[in-house]
Amino acid sequence: MPLIQSESKNMLDKIKRVKTGVSGLDDIISGGLPKDTITLVSGPPGSGKTILCCQFLYQGIKEGDKCLFLTLDKKIEGLLNQTTHLGLDFQSAIEKGQIKFLYLNINKKLVYETMANEILSGNYTRVVLDSITPLSEMPVHINNLDLANNINIIDPEELSTDGTYPIRRLHLHYIINALQTATCTSLVTSELPSGSNNLSRDGLSEFLADGVIVMSLDPTMDRRKLTVIKMRSTKHTLKAQDIEIGGGGIKII
Ligand SMILES: Nc1ncnc2c1ncn2[C@@H]1O[C@H](COP(=O)(O)OP(=O)(O)OP(=O)(O)O)[C@@H](O)[C@H]1O
Ligand SMILES: [Mg+2]
Repeated sequence: MPLIQSESKNMLDKIKRVKTGVSGLDDIISGGLPKDTITLVSGPPGSGKTILCCQFLYQGIKEGDKCLFLTLDKKIEGLLNQTTHLGLDFQSAIEKGQIKFLYLNINKKLVYETMANEILSGNYTRVVLDSITPLSEMPVHINNLDLANNINIIDPEELSTDGTYPIRRLHLHYIINALQTATCTSLVTSELPSGSNNLSRDGLSEFLADGVIVMSLDPTMDRRKLTVIKMRSTKHTLKAQDIEIGGGGIKII
């Protein structure tokens, strides 16, 4: 093997991997997600995003990791019922404090601070944010044009009559920044309309994340698929993998 090629292979071999817990997925991404990276999991409703995230945390529990599940959906009990039904029972881990399911009310003023504080102060090694979509869609209004230009995500046509500049995706930067600062491996979900060819709803998270996994549904063929679109420091196939949801959650078939 040429020297440069073998050196880069050695470097890739040294990257620590975090198992996803999804049967067959770790095999196609060199053993797991690169440690301390952010992976976006996007797909339409019912495509298995939440289940995949729960499997990832369940695997963490098995490995003794401290886990956090941040959700904007109040129905945590319903979620836990669904996962228990799939054989992923979090009850004793919750009681032991090994995992925390935290509901975030997006209408509360300090929701971003609460989220970032929890991520940064909890010593979590695995974090899930399900989902980032409502956060990315809520604009922040600022009246400092320099700052707005600096962030470079302002749409001048959106200038409000009160002279403030709505920045739609500032929250996204804020949350991704918190995840990057904490030493944790994380999954962030994004909801896509059925049939969409985009990688996220906001059009930005796929660039901010280190990895992108797209879940898809084909109702006509009664099939589900999972595709690894990008994964930093990882040689992987771009081919869509057939998946199945059943006992234990998602598996590649
Ligand atoms: N016990 C089960 N056995 C088989 N399939 C199941 C089971 N439980 C759930 N499913 C399938 O998983 C789907 C839900 O998956 P999940 O909640 O992960 O989707 P999602 O992508 O997070 O959707 P949303 O965007 O609405 O949150 C259900 O619609 C169903 O098709
Ligand atoms: Mg979901």
